[in-house]
Amino acid sequence: MIRTRITGVGRYVPPRVVTNHDLKQWMDTSDEWIRERSGIVERHWVDEKTATSDLAVEASKIALEQAGKKPEDVDFIIFATLSSDYYFPGSGVLLQHKLNMPKVGAMDVRNQCSGFVYSLATANAFIRAEMYKTILVVGAEVHSKGLDISTEGRDVAVLFGDGAGAVVVEGFDDDSDRGILTTHLHSQGKYAEYLWTEAPGSAGPRHISHEILEAGKAAPKMRGRDVFKHAIVRFPEVIMEALNTIGATLDDVDLLIPHQANLRISEAVRQRLGLPPEKVYNNIERYGNTTAATIPIALSEVLEKGMLKEGDLLILAAFGSGFTWASAAIRW
Ligand code: UT7
Repeated sequence: MIRTRITGVGRYVPPRVVTNHDLKQWMDTSDEWIRERSGIVERHWVDEKTATSDLAVEASKIALEQAGKKPEDVDFIIFATLSSDYYFPGSGVLLQHKLNMPKVGAMDVRNQCSGFVYSLATANAFIRAEMYKTILVVGAEVHSKGLDISTEGRDVAVLFGDGAGAVVVEGFDDDSDRGILTTHLHSQGKYAEYLWTEAPGSAGPRHISHEILEAGKAAPKMRGRDVFKHAIVRFPEVIMEALNTIGATLDDVDLLIPHQANLRISEAVRQRLGLPPEKVYNNIERYGNTTAATIPIALSEVLEKGMLKEGDLLILAAFGSGFTWASAAIRW
């Protein structure tokens, strides 16, 4: 049976660090409020010239090198982002061009915080269907250019950062059970308005106007408490769904990498599942929420720190705007 394995992982964040203290020059907030509610201490923001695909290029180069691949070895690109370089086309084709890759297909996935797990599941399906052998899966975001950094937007603005993570996945046909074991994808669109950027879009005026800007519709809006309440239910649910599918228990889990939305969410999920702190990886304090990029960024750190060894059971799980949520179980 063909198994999809991750053979290279890379991360890249822009050099500019914005601390909680720095945010005080634009909005009424405090380091204490942000740390206490979210665990975030600092995040990285791009400069004016840098776009989402630029961050993706850097992360992809590292992932390719680690996998021992050249850009021409890749058969397909899946690019998860909610902050593409342009309204259209998506950022996948820009990555293809910037890496001088052959004319392979490039697909953008718009599933926000669950985007990376959705993309990994899609790559796995393509590989197991023998459509492609080697796929580059990227999660990248530039949030900083779209946030409302005034006091009015502070509840959202303090949470998000820029960054990219990339993985190379490949199909192997051998006797080992190493690789992606199962993936689970869910959505509930009735909650779309709980975390969204409303305009411009085809549901309203397509062009940006003073009216849209003044109504605050062009910046992300969130019903934070509601997102929180749903997240702490859906995370454990979708993690258990993955474990039940492969006939494993929580005791079998070696490492959980949850999407980094908020340290309090990760901690609540950990406690609900009864997992020890050393089995749940968090790095939100240094990056904020980088949406589609959080999981591959975390995975690259985990590997650098030697926290995963061959045969370990790794669980990835995400929840976010849509609502969408997802999990993957991987035998490392
Ligand atoms: O991938 C999914 C992404 N989203 C999430 O994971 C977010 C989930 N939600 C949360 O993490 C929390 O709901 C937040 C961290 C967003 C907010 O925490 P909260 O405890 O739910 O606070 P709140 O929104 O109820 O606001 C409490 C107070 C309000 O003041 P009043 O009305 O009590 O006077 C806010 O105006 O905190 C105020 N506030 C702030 N104060 C300082 C809101 N944002 C800020 C801020 N700095 N940045």
